[in-house]
Amino acid sequence: MVDTNTGLRILENLNTSVLLFDGELRLKYINPAGEMLFAASAKQIAGQSIEELLPHSGQFTVALRRAHESGNPYTEREVQLILVNQQTITVDCTVTPLNEHHQESGLLMELLQLDRHLRIAREEMLLAQYQASRSLIRGMAHEIKNPLGGLRGAAQLLEREFTDTKLKEYTQVIISEADRLQNLLDRMLGPNALPHKRLINIHEIVERVYTLLEAEAPEGITIIKDYDPSLPEFEADPEQLIQAVLNITRNALQALNEQGRIILQTRIQRNFTLGQKHHKNVACINIIDDGPGIAADMIETIFYPMITGRPEGTGLGLPIAQSLVNQHGGLIECSSRPGKTVFTVLLPLETNDEQ
Ligand SMILES: Nc1ncnc2c1ncn2[C@@H]1O[C@H](COP(=O)(O)OP(=O)(O)OP(=O)(O)O)[C@@H](O)[C@H]1O
Ligand SMILES: [Mg+2]
Repeated sequence: MVDTNTGLRILENLNTSVLLFDGELRLKYINPAGEMLFAASAKQIAGQSIEELLPHSGQFTVALRRAHESGNPYTEREVQLILVNQQTITVDCTVTPLNEHHQESGLLMELLQLDRHLRIAREEMLLAQYQASRSLIRGMAHEIKNPLGGLRGAAQLLEREFTDTKLKEYTQVIISEADRLQNLLDRMLGPNALPHKRLINIHEIVERVYTLLEAEAPEGITIIKDYDPSLPEFEADPEQLIQAVLNITRNALQALNEQGRIILQTRIQRNFTLGQKHHKNVACINIIDDGPGIAADMIETIFYPMITGRPEGTGLGLPIAQSLVNQHGGLIECSSRPGKTVFTVLLPLETNDEQ
């Protein structure tokens, strides 16, 4: 048997969050891992009911009360919990009702956060997806460009031979369609210019996007700014990043269909891993809309070129944005459910010599 002190030491150093609730399901104890998870100190939240701790996770708290009443332990994998600060986390959860004789009843809850693992796996998939589609497109574009140049050249030669304007119209059709295709190929290949980096503040980018968006948005759309002014300056190509963020916000605008809300949010994330590289500081631009969300069968592929849910869309906005952010060592992530779609642009803040 371990003594109380040893028991406490184990709890205080566990990676798993451990919460103990009393018979009324009010928080009695939370270990430091739990404090980190809930982003609150034990002092602040002691005595809170389970519903106060997780005000937006109705179904989950009902299941907990049921486990408490029935006395049956309960485990659920990959539960999505929404915290007081609206942050969504994914956890594996085990709940054990404590009903020993002569002791006050209670409930022991263990939470193991999965997001970090899930996020890294997902991020690797996004990068691999992006690289695979990019090399496929490069190869294909190369194969199409040469014959296309030949076709266009031949049409130009023919045009010179024709005196009949009717026939010239046909060659014009060939030339303009070849140009259209060339243009599409260039867009598919993404930015070919290297970034022109200079020291900028991230708000320079978001503010420009805000101004452009304000001008484009119909009356029923509200655009809200929520900035963290403490974000430090960093080296980047502002034009490229404006383009990337604009592609994302335009999608949000189109999804909202004249009515709704877009939030432009900036935040800093400390100690963050991007593309297997650890960064001390990462800037996040969150573009949040309350539109219908991205269809479940599309969400895994929206960063692929030519994937579109709009009849007039070309499906290039997001792959181009991803490629521009990638050139800055960053990544775009996305999560979506009806009523809340979040695109996050992650950009490492260190200059090269700091990495
Ligand atoms: N905020 C959003 N809400 C709902 N669906 C979205 C959102 N953002 C993107 N999508 C979906 O992802 C698809 C792909 O977006 P992407 O910008 O790559 O292409 P597009 O907007 O269709 O065409 P393009 O940007 O080239 O004109 C969109 O067609 C849309 O169906
Ligand atoms: Mg788009």
